[in-house]
Parts: sequence; structure tokens; C-alpha cells
Amino acid sequence: MTPSSPDPNHPRTQRPRPSLEAVRAEIGDCRRCPLSETRTTLVFGVGDPHARVMFIGEAPGKNEDLKGEPFVGAAGHLLDELLAEAGLVRDQVYIANILKCRPPGNRDPRPDEIELCTPYLRDQVRAIWPDVIVTLGNFATHFILHTERGITGLRGKVYRTGHFQVLPIFHPAAAIYDRSKVDILHADFTLLRGLLSPVEAAASECTEGSDHGAGKPAENPEPSAPTLWEDVK
Ligand code: URA
Repeated sequence: MTPSSPDPNHPRTQRPRPSLEAVRAEIGDCRRCPLSETRTTLVFGVGDPHARVMFIGEAPGKNEDLKGEPFVGAAGHLLDELLAEAGLVRDQVYIANILKCRPPGNRDPRPDEIELCTPYLRDQVRAIWPDVIVTLGNFATHFILHTERGITGLRGKVYRTGHFQVLPIFHPAAAIYDRSKVDILHADFTLLRGLLSPVEAAASECTEGSDHGAGKPAENPEPSAPTLWEDVK
């Protein structure tokens, strides 16, 4: 076994995974942080509970707060276009955010909010158990890969943390303001398509550090750091 492969003897490997319904029930009408006072709707997540791919964004914006669904605004339209690039539609994937409630004025999530909210995200990941986690932007990427490195340097490669392959990409909202990122996003979704194709998937099952369509090895950005996913490996 290599350091990055799942440890079948890890005690948590045997722990039963929660259902998404159980995670939703546990959140309830969450009042654990002040964002609950300013939100309209808690945005839990949407999609196939058995999806092979899970997308993790930052936090609900205005439209998401009103509708109770992630990525329904302009960034969501671009995400739908990109999903098509990978041969996917929304119903085939699962989409969630680092925070379940909108930060006022769409400000960045704060560390205390991330700490309080992400245990639910971890349980969502454990419930869905996707093969691939696509992290949208810095907040999701830092949380999942347990790194402080910027998205610009991390995107375009596939990382492994425990069971999961992780593909960090630019946040689609960033591409709305900087159109030069649109082509890069399309290239990263082409990479995702390759990851999901049966041939690539079989190759990455067999060989740690194998090529992933773009000729890049799976790796960990911080090999010496414990990942946040130690307990779900
Ligand atoms: N941006 C996000 O990160 N998440 C959403 O749900 C919408 C916009």
C-alpha cells in the first residue's frame, strides 16, 4: 500500500456511512452561527446521492439563498455549460458548498463559519462517497486538500486524498469577471471527462500515480501534512 491509498484497516473504514437524509435531518433549522439570522434559505446541496462526481463551491449567493439550491445564478449557468463539456448534466452529479448559508453581501466565508459548517459537508461526502471531488476555487480546495496553496498553481492536476481523486478548478464566478479563465475551465472539464471514462478510471484503480488524461500524476500537494480526510480513508 502506498501512503496515499485508502487504508482498509483504518478504524473509520468500518464506520457506517450516514445517509444524506440523516445529514439533512441533523442540520435541521441550523442556528449554530450568525449566518442563520441573515439567510433566507439554508442551501444543503442537490443532485444524485450516489454521484461519482461531487462539486464543492464556496457559499450560497443571493439567488441560491432565495431558491435554496446551489449554483442557480450566473456562475451556475456556466457550471451547467461546463458539465456538458464533461458529458454530464446536473442530475448526475452532486453539488454542495463549504457554507450552507449566504454570507451577507457575498463576503468570504470566515474561519469560524467554516469550522462550524464543514462537519456537515464531510458527512455529505461520506454519504455520497464519490470517486472524484471537484473543488471550485480556493475555499473548497483548501478545505479538501488541507493546503494553503492558491488555486492557480493547483488547478489542472489530479490529487488523491484517501479514497478520493480531487480536481481543483477555478471558481466559475471568477471566470465571469475574467473571461480568460473560461478556456482554462473548459480544459479542466475535459480532464474530468477523461477521469470518468471507463478506461481512465480502470487505469487509476490499478496504478497509484498513473496518468489522468492530461498526462499528470495523482499527487498530494502537501505530502507531509495530515489530510482532513484521515478519518474517512
Ligand atoms: N457560488 C458558490 O460558491 N456556490 C453557490 O452555490 C453559488 C455561487
